[in-house]
Amino acid sequence: MRVLSGIQPTGRFHWGNHFGAVRQYIDLQGDPDGAFYFIANLHALTTVRDANLLRQYTLDAAIDLLALGLDPDRATLFVQSDVPEVSELCWLLLTGTPMGLLERCHAYKDKKSRGLGSDAGLFNYPVLMAADILIYDSDLVPVGEDQMQHIEVCRDLAASFNHHFGETFVMPKAKILDHSARVPGVDGEKMSKSYGNTLDVFEAPATLRKQIMRIKTDSRPMEEPKEPEGDHLFQLYSLFATDLQRDEMAALYRRGGFGYGEVKKKLAEAAVEHFAPARERRTELESRPEQVRQVLGDGASHARKKAAEVLRRAQEACGVKPRG
Ligand code: ADP
Ligand code: TRP
Repeated sequence: MRVLSGIQPTGRFHWGNHFGAVRQYIDLQGDPDGAFYFIANLHALTTVRDANLLRQYTLDAAIDLLALGLDPDRATLFVQSDVPEVSELCWLLLTGTPMGLLERCHAYKDKKSRGLGSDAGLFNYPVLMAADILIYDSDLVPVGEDQMQHIEVCRDLAASFNHHFGETFVMPKAKILDHSARVPGVDGEKMSKSYGNTLDVFEAPATLRKQIMRIKTDSRPMEEPKEPEGDHLFQLYSLFATDLQRDEMAALYRRGGFGYGEVKKKLAEAAVEHFAPARERRTELESRPEQVRQVLGDGASHARKKAAEVLRRAQEACGVKPRG
């Protein structure tokens, strides 16, 4: 069984990325052949249009992942563009992709509905993602809820290729974590870089505390009992709390007689403590970029072997290479 996932290098990781995606990568790693994780720089190119920045973000993402616990002895970590076979498979898949399928995909649809210009890269984004998944015979794809639609597209494309050309691709499944599938941001909306409402994993503690104290809350009086479920401050606290702490906080909400400031202080304490070891590891890794590049290089060599095998299978199936 192979687990695979990719994350875009579009800036520093926030709590949504961590609890929605990265934490699952770490939990699911076991042996390097069973867990493939990559930094999706080709996808990021649809938004990051500054070459040096993209290079920096790519290295940063690698350092962040390693600092958070991704272990090169238990997972293969690489950069998407270091496996050029993916772009080739993307073309094979594009030839059988109905336009209507991509027109329904949210990244493109949202941009279009806001009257913004979009390019063919964004339109075809889900097909490149399908190639990423299928080229490693992936079984399980841990992602946040918002990627579910893209996994469905991938499954559609795999099924239609298999149907047309014969059994070629393994059918992948998404793996979504329920309670943190949608981490809220400081304004209560989904936490996302594009909404400017993030709390970053590697934020300096003093800045993080300030940002947490500014989290939006309602203005109901302190005495009034409040329902914890659905409250974004409570949801954020729950990310770090043990079951017992969570139950105690829920009881406090239902009883009333507390201020949100108290909850924010507890949240800040818990978050700073939670990420302290990762912050330390990050500082250390930052001073050894060559070692990080080595990890990525080794990862790419390993991933390419598998990719070449599956690409060849697909090329033979659709007739662009002679049958082996
Ligand atoms: P952003 O929305 O900030 O640009 P990305 O789209 O780069 O984040 O997401 C990277 C990964 O993190 C994806 O697997 C995505 O599903 C997950 N993710 C992003 N934001 C959240 C969130 N608020 N809650 C849960 N998971 C999230
Ligand atoms: N689209 C994903 C995101 O924005 C990143 C990604 C690219 C990915 N290729 C993938 C995730 C393949 C899982 C599998 O988060």
